[in-house]
Amino acid sequence: MLICEGPGSGVQLAPGGKSQRLPPMSASEITAAVAHLEQGGLVVMPTETVYGLAANAADDEAVARIFAAKQRPAFDPLIVHVADADAAWKRAFDTPVARRLAAAFWPGPLTLVLQRRPGCVSDLVTSGMETVGLRCPDHPLALELLRRSGLGLAAPSANIFGRTSPTTAAHVGEQFAAYGALLMDGGSCRVGLESTVVAVQHEQVVILRPGGISREQLHAVLGHEPELASRDTRAQHLPAPAPGMLASHYAPSKPLRLRAPGQAWPRGSQWGYCAFTGADLPDGATVQEVLSPHGDPIQAASRLFAALRQLDAAPIAQICAELVPDQGLGLAINDRLRRAAGMG
Ligand code: TXA
Ligand code: MG
Repeated sequence: MLICEGPGSGVQLAPGGKSQRLPPMSASEITAAVAHLEQGGLVVMPTETVYGLAANAADDEAVARIFAAKQRPAFDPLIVHVADADAAWKRAFDTPVARRLAAAFWPGPLTLVLQRRPGCVSDLVTSGMETVGLRCPDHPLALELLRRSGLGLAAPSANIFGRTSPTTAAHVGEQFAAYGALLMDGGSCRVGLESTVVAVQHEQVVILRPGGISREQLHAVLGHEPELASRDTRAQHLPAPAPGMLASHYAPSKPLRLRAPGQAWPRGSQWGYCAFTGADLPDGATVQEVLSPHGDPIQAASRLFAALRQLDAAPIAQICAELVPDQGLGLAINDRLRRAAGMG
């Protein structure tokens, strides 16, 4: 079935960019990769489609590290990889059609976008949306990682944003060295292009991204031809081009205003402050959430949604949030804050 199961070798990418060759892929090496994932690390994981940059999908900070390493300019939802269909239904609500598609194509290059179950994956993975993309990859090393760890693994293609997806370990090279990523060499990817992404709503199936499973293959299983999303239909399933929809996903129930450096504080009391690095509590504020005391945008991004929720639950009338430097994940944090404030 697989032509990419060569012995492979692991290359540990150490922070600072120096790589160190590890012995050929062995049980102990896979154990090390599992431990690395459990500790919040990144693993470049071979799949049958393209190499993915994987992290524990339930760990906010690990997921934020994926966005930083890829230089993904804004939150764009990530696919969560699972060991089997049962692991998928633990994270999303199944439907008869979803079960039929999973039975026909998993393991394999089909991603099902379904209504998520609350609390199972990081809000960063789903860009705060109510859906989650799930797939079970058809590669022995990926499946071994998923089964041994029991984790759901968020994994976009392992390339810097906007570049070509990698289909060999050599394509990935040392791009993620600075992030301490562990590279697993699983040979050349069998499919070589990304999975087909479909949104499943009741009986309706819409192809959001054509990929490794063809429309004809889907037709054969569904008994009807699935709709191929136009740009507009696709936009309905994604947060970015739909500000109204997005605002309702990110906005706290309390009024949120933004504050650029040097601007005035809100008048009156009874307000809470969402600070980037934080110092003393500003005059008038009764509560403060600090995103990252050391000014680390990765940490700040991983805490953003939780901080806003925390403030929303506090006994205050309004929230004020500090815009962060527009660099790295800061761009995405500000994007989310602007949308949450209805200014997206
Ligand atoms: O084959 C693949 O799918 C590879 C391997 C690593 O599994 N992954 C991959 O991930 O291509 P990425 O992040 O490069 O592309 C994921 C696509 C994006 O277009 C994203 O917008 C879409 O899937 N997506 C993920 N979750 C979604 C959701 N909840 N709703 C709509 N689209 C979603
Ligand atoms: Mg990609």
